Amino acid sequence: MAKLLITGGAGFIGSHTCLVLLEAGHSLVVLDNFDNSSPESLRRVQELAGPAAADALKVIKGDVRSSSDLERALAGGCDAVVHFAGLKAVGESVAKPLLYWDVNVSGSRELLAAMRACGCRTIVFSSSATLYGLPEVVPICETAPIKPINPYGQTKAAVEQMLADIATSEAGWRIACLRYFNPVGAHPSGRLGEDPNGIPNNLFPFVSQVAVGRRSRLSVFGGDWPTPDGSGVRDYIHVMDLAEGHRAAVDVLLAEDPQLLTLNLGSGQGHSVLEVVAAFEAASGQAVPYEVVARRPGDAASSVADPSLAAQRLRWRTQRGLSEMCRDGWAWQSANPQGYAS
Ligand code: NAD
Ligand code: UFG
Repeated sequence: MAKLLITGGAGFIGSHTCLVLLEAGHSLVVLDNFDNSSPESLRRVQELAGPAAADALKVIKGDVRSSSDLERALAGGCDAVVHFAGLKAVGESVAKPLLYWDVNVSGSRELLAAMRACGCRTIVFSSSATLYGLPEVVPICETAPIKPINPYGQTKAAVEQMLADIATSEAGWRIACLRYFNPVGAHPSGRLGEDPNGIPNNLFPFVSQVAVGRRSRLSVFGGDWPTPDGSGVRDYIHVMDLAEGHRAAVDVLLAEDPQLLTLNLGSGQGHSVLEVVAAFEAASGQAVPYEVVARRPGDAASSVADPSLAAQRLRWRTQRGLSEMCRDGWAWQSANPQGYAS
């Protein structure tokens, strides 16, 4: 079993992935500055993983831009890094581009330098479907043009390029760039989930907060898209499927020869905003009032993965559908109406 450094492991995707990696028998060091998360998520990961995993999770409060924090996190040796740490709000990235280039790009550069210094050359990177911009062909293959339309997407493209350059510069790198589509849902226990600060930017947490009564109604951004019901279509992926995709990527990288893998992680299934609303109402038994408003600038009509390369290379595919995403998202939201602060 491997020793792994998980940057950003206290966050939404990181916490679920930590649990899956602990259950697979790996030992983890999490490095997180808790800028967008709470240590409570990792306490609950520990609780769900049980006493057998008590010594297998070490938490360090620190920043990926700090070489001394990275040195501390890598001090016990490291077989592979899963790099979640970063900022992800599209609107904020437009307002604060230098912050996004600093955390996402300089942070990744600092991490790669620290990895080289300690001889670890295996990394799984959290990339995003956002780097496809407004896709011309759907479903989207990994060979589609990289055309990000906001600073957040630019930083993801830049880190992918940095990883490709380092793989070319010296032998031995094992790299997986995982381009997530729309991660949603929660651990089925309702103990872990997504806990955004302030007003959620994304559909799923907004719908959950309307269902639980924290917000009065959803604004549906556009009813005139060229989609079957006129609302936007996305490829939602259950966060537990995504976590299992990371476990598979770590296993493949450590077992195979050095390589650079670039993979879409999605279900291949598109769902419209109105379908998500109906599925969430059915799962929660709560009404989700909504009104259709103007389109949101920068949105695509439809974004759906072609997930066949990941299925082939990782022997992984999604197992959970929209109803499970809503069921588990509701288990989390109803038990933790104020997130980890509940
Ligand atoms: P999140 O904000 O919940 O998790 C990110 C974690 O990184 C947080 O715990 C945060 O405190 C930590 N962090 C931020 N800056 C840091 C720094 N400088 N040093 C150390 N830790 C830091 O986000 P998430 O949804 O779990 O996303 C994880 C990764 O996946 C991000 O890189 C994000 O860009 C990427 N991603 C997310 C989505 C999505 O829709 N959630 C989609 C595609 C890609
Ligand atoms: N939507 C609404 N109302 C809302 C929020 C969203 O109608 O309040 C609609 C959007 O217009 C879109 C769909 O719901 O049609 C999904 O929107 P999200 O904001 O949840 O997700 P996006 O696909 O726009 O983007 C998200 C992240 C990106 C990431 C991308 C793919 O914000 O950073 O998923 O992973 F790149």
